[in-house]
Amino acid sequence: MLEAVLRRIEAEDAEESVWIVGPATGRMLHWLIRVAQPMAVLEIGTSVGYSALWMAAALEANKAGELWTIESHAQRYERAQSNFEESGLTHRIHSLNGHAPEIFELETGIPQQVDFVFLDATKMEHASYFEAVIPRLKPGSFLVVDNVLSHRSGPMQEFIANLHRDARLKVVEISVGDGLLIARTETV
Ligand SMILES: C[S@@+](CC[C@H](N)C(=O)[O-])C[C@H]1O[C@@H](n2cnc3c(N)ncnc32)[C@H](O)[C@@H]1O
Repeated sequence: MLEAVLRRIEAEDAEESVWIVGPATGRMLHWLIRVAQPMAVLEIGTSVGYSALWMAAALEANKAGELWTIESHAQRYERAQSNFEESGLTHRIHSLNGHAPEIFELETGIPQQVDFVFLDATKMEHASYFEAVIPRLKPGSFLVVDNVLSHRSGPMQEFIANLHRDARLKVVEISVGDGLLIARTETV
């Protein structure tokens, strides 16, 4: 059932892009979550739920953990809801319609402490998402950022450089999909 939903979203995205990460990054996120075994995953930028489904499937395989995913666009949020229902993984997913980071101030049930964060929303706003999530990350948690190769200019370039300089993080970048930055929190 999950595979069918993923293939349909890929086909829909080929017709009209909703900026999904694609299968290579989806598999990488799945693999990271299988290895890291996080209990609370936070995604900023659900779109129609493609990357969320890869991550929720990994949590299901781990037999533990939940995902909170945030989307500001009402129509894509609705499409994600329907994709989550069709996948049979809704027990792992909390889907929120709102704008990050402001949504963190609301009573949405997002845990105070999370141990895996995936940033995939407006590239210009990454620094503000980071400031909002870093106090929520325990030592040994993961922060993953998409598009570090495809959008490596302007504010995104500065954001990436700041992460590399941040003493609280150990950062690697890998050329999977549009480029992934993977950081592990060391001292926060
Ligand atoms: C690149 S797409 C996400 C793709 C998704 N992660 C996937 O691979 O399936 C980015 C999404 O982030 C949403 N977005 C942009 N800024 C946002 C914000 N500040 N808070 C929540 N969602 C946001 C956009 O509406 C868009 O649907």
